[in-house]
Amino acid sequence: MNKPEPIVYLNGEFIALKDAHVSVLDRGFIFGDGVYEVVPAYGRRLFRLQHHLERLNSNLNAVKITNPLSFEDWQQLIAQLIIKNQYNNQSVYLQITRGVAPRDHGFPDKENPTIFMMTSTLVKQSREIADNGIHAVSLPDNRWQNCHIKSISLLPNVLLRQQALDKGAEEAILIRDGIATEGAASNLFIVLDDCIITPPKGPLLLPGVTRDLIVELARGKKQCIKEQTITEAELNNAQEIWLTSSTKEILPVTMLNNKTVGSGKPGLLWNQMMTDYQQYIQDLEENTCD
Ligand SMILES: Cc1ncc(COP(=O)(O)O)c(C=O)c1O
Repeated sequence: MNKPEPIVYLNGEFIALKDAHVSVLDRGFIFGDGVYEVVPAYGRRLFRLQHHLERLNSNLNAVKITNPLSFEDWQQLIAQLIIKNQYNNQSVYLQITRGVAPRDHGFPDKENPTIFMMTSTLVKQSREIADNGIHAVSLPDNRWQNCHIKSISLLPNVLLRQQALDKGAEEAILIRDGIATEGAASNLFIVLDDCIITPPKGPLLLPGVTRDLIVELARGKKQCIKEQTITEAELNNAQEIWLTSSTKEILPVTMLNNKTVGSGKPGLLWNQMMTDYQQYIQDLEENTCD
């Protein structure tokens, strides 16, 4: 059977992916001048949409692009896109750039943003990861000072992730001035003295939607959790290390820089948190949370 054609949204239209074209003068292509968001959907139900759209709005404000759509319009368009595509579990990618204009660093006089959305299948975490975890390496965080903005200019993150892959690891954990900030495309949690710790929000890391849910779930369970700076030494001595993102959920790191983390297997607190996280997803699918 032929695979159904993926449908995307581009500037007001739902069209086949193969027919979606953007001008080479688009400032996203020329300068990486835009922001993006990734929203997971489980059983076609959007996960924490309000949080994702609020972050999108603050990112657009931060880069001085007027949000082209209202919350309700975003919600409707994303819901339509999910229905038009094949999979039950989808990862919705949306990108807004400053649009097409003659190449000049200064903003164009007239705002004409490009709005693009596509979805891909959202692959659930494998048994292999749950059993054995992943490998990570620590690398110097050489990104800019505005890592809280979900900018499409991702060259530093791309280079860092590739460096990790070249070293046989799945993700890079970034270190700036002796402090662990986050992963190349994920937020960081460690367990130290049976307490979960994640770095506080600020300009040096992305305020992850998954991160916030984990903090919320831990607080709901009266589990010890602190939003506190993590030094490189603490990272190296952690009982458990987790990396979180909307598409990867909570990844247990069992090897850091070729050294075993904790017992070398995904830890007890990871297991508990993953159970609570999966319960949250199940409740979403059954329509009892957003
Ligand atoms: C640099 C970075 N940090 C953290 C995250 C996790 O954010 P979220 O949980 O909202 O997906 C991402 C996600 O892509 C990321 O790119």
